[in-house]
Amino acid sequence: MKATDILKKQHREVKAMFKKMENTENARGRKQLLEEITAALELHTRLEEEIFYPAVRGLETRKAEEMVAEALEEHHVVDLVLAELPKVDPEDERFAAKMTVLSELVGHHADEEEEEMFPMCEKKLGRARLEALGQQMQRMVEASQRRAA
Ligand SMILES: [Fe+2]
Ligand SMILES: [Fe+2]
Repeated sequence: MKATDILKKQHREVKAMFKKMENTENARGRKQLLEEITAALELHTRLEEEIFYPAVRGLETRKAEEMVAEALEEHHVVDLVLAELPKVDPEDERFAAKMTVLSELVGHHADEEEEEMFPMCEKKLGRARLEALGQQMQRMVEASQRRAA
């Protein structure tokens, strides 16, 4: 699978987890979902930061450099909110508020990747390169699944 298709699939999966969170009232369910969202985002950002973004940077254009720099800052903000959530009582209204902010941040960031960065890469990196990057990502996904098992 092309790297961009793997990342898009993960975007859809994590968006679905946020939707599920909106409809989950009980504390245990929310805690469980928070763990799932955290694990999914950690893996996703690793794939991007260690495999995909370096390839984007490799395009060596100013636009690519700016996009990666902005994306890394957005990942950083997501990490900050994510780090606070386990300290908040899932039944406290601040939990829902922080979750909403996190969901909006991630949604906006993912949409921007899909609308700007990915189309640029599909055009400039080409199919073979995207497939090769996809294979590298797949290996990272499998290694993390083995660790989790
Ligand atoms: Fe990202
Ligand atoms: Fe992403």
